[in-house]
Amino acid sequence: MPKFILAIDQGTTSTRCMVFDHSANIITADQKEHQQIYPKAGWVEHDALEIWQNTREVIANALNKADLTLQDIAAVGITNQRETTVVWNRFTGQPYANAIVWQDTRTDVFCNQLAADGGQDRLREKTGLPLATYFSGPKIRWLLDNIPGLREAAEKGEAIFGNIDTWLIWNLTGGPRGGIHVTDVSNASRTLLMDLQTLQWDAEILNLMGIPRQMLPRISASSKIYGYAVQTLEGIPVAGDLGDQQAAIFGQACYEPGEAKNTYGTGCFMLMNTGPTPVPSKSGLLTTLGYKIGYDPAVYCLEGSIAIAGALVQWLRDNFKMIEKSAEIEFLARSVEDNGGIYFVPAFSGLFAPYWRSDARGVIVGMTRYINRGHLARAALEATAYQTREVLDAMEKDSGVRLKSLKVDGGMVANELLMQFQADILNVPVVRPRITETTALGAAYAAGLAVGFWSDFAELRNNWGQDRTWMPAMEEEQRSRLFAGWKKAVTRTLNWVE
Ligand code: G3P
Repeated sequence: MPKFILAIDQGTTSTRCMVFDHSANIITADQKEHQQIYPKAGWVEHDALEIWQNTREVIANALNKADLTLQDIAAVGITNQRETTVVWNRFTGQPYANAIVWQDTRTDVFCNQLAADGGQDRLREKTGLPLATYFSGPKIRWLLDNIPGLREAAEKGEAIFGNIDTWLIWNLTGGPRGGIHVTDVSNASRTLLMDLQTLQWDAEILNLMGIPRQMLPRISASSKIYGYAVQTLEGIPVAGDLGDQQAAIFGQACYEPGEAKNTYGTGCFMLMNTGPTPVPSKSGLLTTLGYKIGYDPAVYCLEGSIAIAGALVQWLRDNFKMIEKSAEIEFLARSVEDNGGIYFVPAFSGLFAPYWRSDARGVIVGMTRYINRGHLARAALEATAYQTREVLDAMEKDSGVRLKSLKVDGGMVANELLMQFQADILNVPVVRPRITETTALGAAYAAGLAVGFWSDFAELRNNWGQDRTWMPAMEEEQRSRLFAGWKKAVTRTLNWVE
């Protein structure tokens, strides 16, 4: 058996390739950012061909850096930014348009129309999701309505849909020459088109949204040999497919009901394993698929999705040139004692969990002449912690589980000021694992289990080790006062878009 598993982590801002050994050590890695395209306010697009090209490049670079050959790789696992929607021609491999990214709000009119009859939660029982611009179904509908000739092409089976997992697997396994058109349950559960119980596309919803069944991929398990790569990784089994947040909970070894993690990336996503039955949310969370390993029953999660976390730091870096590198935000935030009384609510894509308000837009409140760049930096970091508190409160209500600690991962967990503030505002210890690249690791685990590289969950659990814990150190009075300020600030974002 070859000694390593290769994972591709195709995220919102960059594409990464990581190679892991049996003890989950990273042997080599490479990363490349891709262009963020903003054609109009509220629109966010990616070039799917650029993403495929970057994927090929990071694979080649990662292998080169460690002098690895394909003989060293036992399987490849894919993990991806979820919901982002690509429609392409199955005979040429050309996308019909740029990919519509999960943060894009152009489908708000369609979502509101659907919600006008039966309310925003009319599809919740079947899909676990509210009607929101976030999910893929309405994005597919937008493309079908706006790209000339696309509906006919989709009805003939020429135009096919995929999230980025499907797009990459299709290309790896041959593209126009026999590429496999498949997705896994975790990605399919983010489309608003899949029934949570049957794990199949729902005919009634497809009809409601006007989406031809023949353009959709087959829904499969998250860990299973889908096929073999015929380009870039010739001959390697493609054996794992998980949405990135589900990959992170898998990489964090949260295999028991009640175990949870929070990933701080472009957005921030808290998921709790709820076992083999879906738990409906009454508090604004999503009921989503966690993973399905081969023929085992599927595992469900509750999820609190926050659209903007690290993206706010990038925004201060790119649009305001306030810092040169994202990591500098911590230094700037440490230059002041506190937030100076300001709150920054980054409702750039509306508000996701627990509000689901596409009419919300970002605000900074409490400004005085006293405020400087340091306060702004601090308020930007604190925003992630307050949003996490809101989803944790909802999670505890829905699940009835009181978290004893929160496992964290993702790029922002290097920020110690944020991690301490997070523990303070939650009043729960925050635990960072030894390997914070849990997303790529989760995809590697899914692929490795399918080919027998790892044998069971116990083996994966053994690889998990703690790096550092932040203990809460804030007085209750201060915590309540700060959080009340945040709640008040959130009310100022609402009803902004008519
Ligand atoms: O649902 C969107 C999510 O999958 C994006 O994750 O890590 O690219 O911010 P990330």
